Amino acid sequence: APECSEPRYAAIEKLVREAGQKMLKARPGEENIHKKEGLANFCTDYDTAIQRFLIKGLGEILPGAAFFGEEDTEGNAGADAEGEFTFYIDPIDGTTNFMFDYHHSCVSVGLAHGEQMIAGFVYHPYVDDMYVAVRGHGSYLNGKRLQMADKPVEEGIVEFGCARYNEAGIDWLFRVVKEMFQNSLSIRCGGSAALGLCRGASGSNTVYLELKLQPYDYAAASVILEEAGGRITQIDGSPITLHEGCSIIGGTPAAWQESKDAFEKLKEEM
Ligand code: IPD
Repeated sequence: APECSEPRYAAIEKLVREAGQKMLKARPGEENIHKKEGLANFCTDYDTAIQRFLIKGLGEILPGAAFFGEEDTEGNAGADAEGEFTFYIDPIDGTTNFMFDYHHSCVSVGLAHGEQMIAGFVYHPYVDDMYVAVRGHGSYLNGKRLQMADKPVEEGIVEFGCARYNEAGIDWLFRVVKEMFQNSLSIRCGGSAALGLCRGASGSNTVYLELKLQPYDYAAASVILEEAGGRITQIDGSPITLHEGCSIIGGTPAAWQESKDAFEKLKEEM
């Protein structure tokens, strides 16, 4: 990977861990909840505070970097973010889980050099799981190298995601999910896309599916998944996008292929 050196990666990891610890200090019902555009789309004061904390800290680690974060805070250039280095930040991926004290949310920070994702950091503070990957240097969960077995759908769990504020294609998705359910050992809808993809990297699920996500949801996890031997693209097989949102299939190469085929097949039947 280009010059974001080892000490800088270590500093980013430390910062992401600190950000996650802030989530643990929140008590259910106490956080200030704000409605965002669309149905059941929320931002809590913790999302905003954690993103501010990350933008400040990351800016000190890598001066001049641009930011594409989920929340509307100072320093966030959003989809227009342009620079040699760009950070993709989801301060709390799994905000609805966070609001309901579900204990399945994470901090997600990805780093791109130009148009290529080069590093990903995803921290699940409730179980103290830190996923880290640097392009070309492998994927790690709590310091242990991840290398997935190429399991087909029938040998594991399938995870999918969906959001009320984005219901386009929901019948199609649920048809695919039903087929996946019948072909797999079980299905899950965990409520954090970043963790869903990281759980593919660690072998807990075979594949993660969603029809619409934003770059800050999948940027970090995409590197973690690929460096663990996985495959991640849009549902039609085209590359994921970094300036706008897209659909996602991320998993073992075998389960990725099966999912892509299922989307294709069921689309034709509709
Ligand atoms: C959401 C989560 C969820 C996914 C939604 C995302 P947020 O992110 O990743 O699992 O299904 O599409 O928007 O809003 O909690 O950061």
